[in-house]
Amino acid sequence: MNEPAATSLRAATAGDRPAIVDLCKRSLVATYGGFMDPEKMRPWVEGREVETYVDQTWPHMTVAVRGETVVGVVALDREVIDLVWVRDELRGQGIGAHLMDAAERALAAGHDEAELECFAPNVGGLRFYRARGYREVRRYWEQASGVDKVVLRKPLARPVTLERVERPAAREGWR
Ligand SMILES: CC(C)(COP(=O)(O)OP(=O)(O)OC[C@H]1O[C@@H](n2cnc3c(N)ncnc32)[C@H](O)[C@@H]1OP(=O)(O)O)[C@@H](O)C(=O)NCCC(=O)NCCS
Repeated sequence: MNEPAATSLRAATAGDRPAIVDLCKRSLVATYGGFMDPEKMRPWVEGREVETYVDQTWPHMTVAVRGETVVGVVALDREVIDLVWVRDELRGQGIGAHLMDAAERALAAGHDEAELECFAPNVGGLRFYRARGYREVRRYWEQASGVDKVVLRKPLARPVTLERVERPAAREGWR
């Protein structure tokens, strides 16, 4: 998929924290509201759990930006893709795929597989991951949310490294 126009990726900075929190909090209700008890979401939406998470995790985040605006984020925790989120109004433009490509490339340098979790009723999220080659390895009931979670994994291709070859004593030709 082509990179969407005018969107670029970079490592998150401490200064991005408010924008990342805003992005997550804005979409939490829209994304989870259909299947999660509002009481379970309250600490995330009204409390400071998202702020605390972002404060601790931003050094392991990559953001998608358009101009100065953060429009998407992906977070890594060892081999786990801990979060991928795109601004509601910009979904379906390839930003999520671009963030996942970057995360998987980074993980492939040190891991054979990528892992992530998705709420079982988040059918859009699951379709997105399955289309990218993730396969379910288990499910469990998560107490904090009161919702089933699906754990998915995907084998990662090792990055190609060019091996050094001895240069022939005499090389002729066009190169
Ligand atoms: C899931 C999410 C990150 C995808 O980001 P995005 O920028 O909208 O996705 P892209 O535009 O890169 O789409 C990539 C592919 O996935 C498909 N896709 C994306 N979201 C989809 C959805 N909800 N349902 C079905 N397919 C979807 C696209 O059609 C596209 O397919 P294509 O390559 O054949 O054209 C985004 O929708 C999002 O932030 N959702 C809310 C948070 C969430 O659910 N996160 C993941 C679970 S924790």
